[in-house]
Amino acid sequence: MSRIVHVNGEWLPEAEAKVSVFDRGFLMADAVYEVTSVLDGRLVDFAGHLARLRRSLAALDLPSPAGDDALLALHREAVARNALDEGMVYCQVTRGAPAERDFLWPGPEVPPGLVLFTQEKPGLALGAQARAGIAVATVPDLRWGRRDIKTVQLLYPSWAKMIAKGQGADDAWMVEEGLVTEGSSNNAWIVAGGRIVTRGLGEDILAGITRATVLRCAAEAQLAVEERPFTVEEAQGAEEAFVTSATTFVLPVVRIDGRPVGSGAPGPVARRLREL
Ligand code: PDD
Repeated sequence: MSRIVHVNGEWLPEAEAKVSVFDRGFLMADAVYEVTSVLDGRLVDFAGHLARLRRSLAALDLPSPAGDDALLALHREAVARNALDEGMVYCQVTRGAPAERDFLWPGPEVPPGLVLFTQEKPGLALGAQARAGIAVATVPDLRWGRRDIKTVQLLYPSWAKMIAKGQGADDAWMVEEGLVTEGSSNNAWIVAGGRIVTRGLGEDILAGITRATVLRCAAEAQLAVEERPFTVEEAQGAEEAFVTSATTFVLPVVRIDGRPVGSGAPGPVARRLREL
């Protein structure tokens, strides 16, 4: 089924939607984005995604294309126009399309670009993959230094995932100075000594909205949590490992670089957090 997508103020069938070749998002990855999951036709954790979009825009002095209420309305309209039940809404803001390619942005006379589209993900809640768990392969983290800003500079993370696939894994975990930073598009967690461990926030990882929700759920369930970095070796020797993101929720990791984690099957903590 052809989607209806939003491009710079217009709703169009996806085949008719166009962005300029001079758009700085296309030429320079001068753009930020958000992915909000949709369950039962409703946006999940939208307030968190909106707040992070605002932080990303502010960090890069990127002009805002619309106010909070308008952005919420656009997200809801994308869901409604596409009768989306289970899946996600992608929202991207770029620094617009000046008349010429130039590293320097001419200024606010160039309006920001805004694109929204939906993607169906049947079985998102059910999580067939969550029942089996995934394998990850580790790669060096070669991204830039402001990974807390959700930019569309996704060359390295997507390449890392392809490298992992080539090694028979499902996804990549990125490693810096011997410590796991995060997954290609998710936050990385382990369960070690009965405690849930995930790297603390900083400029070196994205502050996952699902991460925040899982931390809240863990606190409510009185599960012990430590925010600190961990090594690949510690993860391989942990009781459990898992990743979190808007499009996976809590997804168990059962192999790291070919070595089984715990029993080599999804564990009870990941299962419980996913249920919560
Ligand atoms: N990615 N870390 C990175 C590098 C990410 O790209 C993402 C999300 C996360 C998890 O954030 P959240 O829980 O807010 O989804 C962590 C999205 C899903 C994507 O790029 O498709």
